[in-house]
Amino acid sequence: MLLKALFLFSLLAIAHGCCKKRCKSDSLENPFNGKCYQIPPEPERPAVWLDDCDRVPSDCDNYGLIYDLQHPKGDGPWCSSGQKIRCLLPEKPKLTVTGAKEFKIISINVMERNYYMTLDGQNERTCRIVPWLLSNFPNLDAIAFQETFMGGCFSNKLNLRDILTYYGFKYQTETIYSTLKILNGGTFIASKWPIVDEYGKIFTTANPWTFEYFVAKGVSYGKIVKTVESEQMTYNVMTTHMQSSGSNYYREAQCREWADFSKSLDIPSNEALIFSGDLNMDVTDPSLKSCIDLLNGTLPEISGFQKASYDPNSNDILQIEDMYKQTMLIDFVFPSKMHRQPEKASQEIIQMKSNDYFKICYCSICVSRTRHVFPDDDCERVAWIQQLSDHYAVLGHFKF
Ligand SMILES: *[C@@H]1O[C@H](CO)[C@@H](O)[C@H](O)[C@H]1NC(C)=O
Repeated sequence: MLLKALFLFSLLAIAHGCCKKRCKSDSLENPFNGKCYQIPPEPERPAVWLDDCDRVPSDCDNYGLIYDLQHPKGDGPWCSSGQKIRCLLPEKPKLTVTGAKEFKIISINVMERNYYMTLDGQNERTCRIVPWLLSNFPNLDAIAFQETFMGGCFSNKLNLRDILTYYGFKYQTETIYSTLKILNGGTFIASKWPIVDEYGKIFTTANPWTFEYFVAKGVSYGKIVKTVESEQMTYNVMTTHMQSSGSNYYREAQCREWADFSKSLDIPSNEALIFSGDLNMDVTDPSLKSCIDLLNGTLPEISGFQKASYDPNSNDILQIEDMYKQTMLIDFVFPSKMHRQPEKASQEIIQMKSNDYFKICYCSICVSRTRHVFPDDDCERVAWIQQLSDHYAVLGHFKF
């Protein structure tokens, strides 16, 4: 009788152990150790899980993010040991607003090429760019991006668009692309104000002897309507990223395509039209002048003491390798002569420099790499930097 009871009891125990869920409904069981872990609460702000199981809370700092919590599963498979770390976006900076007739736009080449081309701190730098820009320039109206080929920050989890949206720049043009090219064009425009119309133009000319032949480079266009206290102004914005190497032949052809595109949009002359981007031609280059003339634009004076947008003397990313020593001004924001004329127009070169040094894994020819490499992981060369891109940003400020 006792034996029978014992047998029944153990059967029950087995049944209980095998089939009943052992964890409470707000928890999940880790198959590696049988322990229950509470499902992490939704983050209070946009966040990203650092996937590897050997991350530590201070890793978030290296991306300009803020440590939130740790968990052995995160949003992916369970860790057999260790924890995943969740990092939060810093709090939204307090934005301010200028009058409808004032417009501030930053053009920035963010240097976010695919990992198989280079490892140069894509994640560490681009996670910081939007928080940096909007904390330093809380009254920006729009940002024109170039070289966001993957999407920025942790592109499939927390990308530039997610950050922009949370920070109040929810209006964004599509990144230009072509089904005939391998990579998208890397350019898009983000705005605090509604974008009521947009077009993308892919250049048909590119140097066939460079990889750029397979990149959908061209022009992003957005029509932005800024409304402040019942006053309204329409700002047409374009941004481009021209052929980066070799002679001016291809850039001149691309500029003709840009001018044709601009003309084809039939923008009313009582609206503002602002051109921007990385033209890859120096301000002293006669081909730059021809291009500006072709667009019927005017280059405003550069205010401030920093005169080059590409400056190996001051930009620590460009000092990791002893390469191009020449300083250049190749990034611009400038208005059209044929459209509504600003009373005041200026360009200012802005060094996007983090207060702290952060570390990146650096590798200039890394074809075997397909993903982000944590600098303390399997990295051949670690560099400590403060600058957020190899180009400085250009702030265009206009009063109409
Ligand atoms: C520039 O101005 C000239 C002269 O008015 C005009 O013929 C040309 O179409 C304009 N170009 C663009 C891109 O608007």
